Amino acid sequence: MNTRSHILPATAQNYARAADVLAGGGLVALPTETVYGLAGDARNDAAVARIYAVKGRPAHNPLIAHVLSVGQAGDLARLCPLAEATAARFWPGPVTLVLPRKNGEGLSPLAGAGRDTIALRCPKAPWTDSFARSGFHGPLFMPSANRSGRVSPTTAAHVAADLGDAVDMIIDGGPCPIGLESTVVKIAHGRGTVLRPGAVTLDDLRAFDPRFSNAPMGDDIVAPGMLKSHYAPKAAVRLNVTQPKAGEAHLGFGTCYAAPGLNLSPSGDLAEAATHLFDYLRRLDTVDTIAVAPIPDHGIGRAINDRLGRAAAEREA
Ligand code: TXA
Ligand code: MG
Repeated sequence: MNTRSHILPATAQNYARAADVLAGGGLVALPTETVYGLAGDARNDAAVARIYAVKGRPAHNPLIAHVLSVGQAGDLARLCPLAEATAARFWPGPVTLVLPRKNGEGLSPLAGAGRDTIALRCPKAPWTDSFARSGFHGPLFMPSANRSGRVSPTTAAHVAADLGDAVDMIIDGGPCPIGLESTVVKIAHGRGTVLRPGAVTLDDLRAFDPRFSNAPMGDDIVAPGMLKSHYAPKAAVRLNVTQPKAGEAHLGFGTCYAAPGLNLSPSGDLAEAATHLFDYLRRLDTVDTIAVAPIPDHGIGRAINDRLGRAAAEREA
């Protein structure tokens, strides 16, 4: 079995081939600034059904529609003035906006999971322009290119390890520069609520406009995909560990690191730690337990701790 032949470098020519595959209803794994995504034509029911099947994703968990240009968002959702301004400020970039959906655009209903909202993101990735030049204008439904509930992929090799031949093409654009999924923000009634923390932090959003806040604890406005156990390696995960036990691998941060294991950032840089998080969780996933050093809970550290908390959460049998 030749599992490597469909991994292609990120060249203009290969992006044009990827656009053809997508237009023909195929699935392509694409690099973005956050993590690798598993893309399919948002108007093609069969392609969207295959995304759910390949990921093993529960049907109640809706997908993010990725637009190739900021202007395309208005075709798919109703943008209030706050949504318009937020998109203008942060797109293309690692922010997803959950907005009231417009109907009649021919998007596959499967990906909406019966909701009256739609999540939209305009990623900062070279293929948006390449696809448009090839005559494929999207939009794309594109979840992270991992098996549902597992660690998100930040390299083409991660995608190949998880999904292999189940995807028609993988474009290798190197490691993702951010390494954590986009910040998901719901905008309704002139207010913004962070449903999933990411590289664009609540402080960043509030500095732009004070009408942003975190979802209150226990609030039912959460992203349906934010299950307690998620991002999980096979190993058990133990948090806030300064001294790992014998047999554990340490995932260190800054000066808190005791080999054997890997240090997310010896210099204590949270952005660097984010780029390594998912890769190192995968690399250390040969032991029974990964013991994780305390990570400062500010800036992108909030998003790192969010993912680690879910990786450590009790799993369903
Ligand atoms: O950075 C990212 O956002 C990556 C890259 C590939 O773009 N994509 C990604 O997609 O992380 P996914 O499907 O793995 O995560 C999307 C999250 C899920 O938690 C899902 O439940 C939530 O967004 N979501 C999607 N549609 C929603 C909606 N209408 N309302 C609330 N949450 C929604
Ligand atoms: Mg995901």
